[in-house]
Amino acid sequence: MVSYAPLHLRVTTPQIELVGATDHLLEKLEPIVRTGKASAEPAPYDDPMSLYEEDPEIRVVKWLQSVWRGRGIVTADFWRLNLIVMLNNKPVGMQDVIGDHFNTYGTVGTFSWLSSDVRQRGIGSEIRQAALHLAFDGLDAREATSEAFIDNLGSNGVSRRLGYKENGVTWASRHGEPALMQRWRLTREDWLPHRRSDIEMYGVASTRKVLRK
Ligand SMILES: CC(C)(COP(=O)(O)OP(=O)(O)OC[C@H]1O[C@@H](n2cnc3c(N)ncnc32)[C@H](O)[C@@H]1OP(=O)(O)O)[C@@H](O)C(=O)NCCC(=O)NCCS
Repeated sequence: MVSYAPLHLRVTTPQIELVGATDHLLEKLEPIVRTGKASAEPAPYDDPMSLYEEDPEIRVVKWLQSVWRGRGIVTADFWRLNLIVMLNNKPVGMQDVIGDHFNTYGTVGTFSWLSSDVRQRGIGSEIRQAALHLAFDGLDAREATSEAFIDNLGSNGVSRRLGYKENGVTWASRHGEPALMQRWRLTREDWLPHRRSDIEMYGVASTRKVLRK
């Protein structure tokens, strides 16, 4: 495998692992995207979103293109760590950590999806906790934000459970129609009481070098 540090990044908890999204792992995750198990009802994503493509072939192509784009862009205002969720050594979803004007504000956003057959078992909370550990402990983030349509009970449930505070609402378009999104904010101070001692990280120092601008 090429020596690009974010591809070698790993965050492990007793239940799951987040690992850099190599092409090898994307290939293993692809059937979940192809069969439509990465989406949900009500529609969870704002436009444009590759996972909404109806044709499974085009969906996979656009999804791969979006992951590769995220992999290649690192600016002072934006970067994205694409991480694959491993459950019992099998890829079951993605948990991304996104730098949003990170150099100035220390803010990270998160984005995740799980295969529909492993939802509502606490794994969404576990992968967000792993992402927050990476952000606050590994990358010295100052705050984490999240947004989800108000009818997205899974994503909003995870944010509420992990101590995020509501931070207003905003409009976004989904399938071309306006819908309200709930915004959430978790400061470093609010995260510290939730900090876990059973999460381990590998490859953070070399990843930080790649993200430095
Ligand atoms: C968002 C997502 C990753 C959450 O993962 P998950 O494993 O289902 O979440 P958890 O099991 O950890 O649930 C966290 C909380 O939300 C609640 N919850 C999760 N899904 C729910 C649902 N469909 N209906 C009602 N409550 C739900 C859980 O009961 C839990 O609440 P609790 O703390 O009171 O027990 C998953 O639902 C998903 O992949 N959704 C589709 C993609 C998506 O919406 N991504 C986010 C885009 S912003």
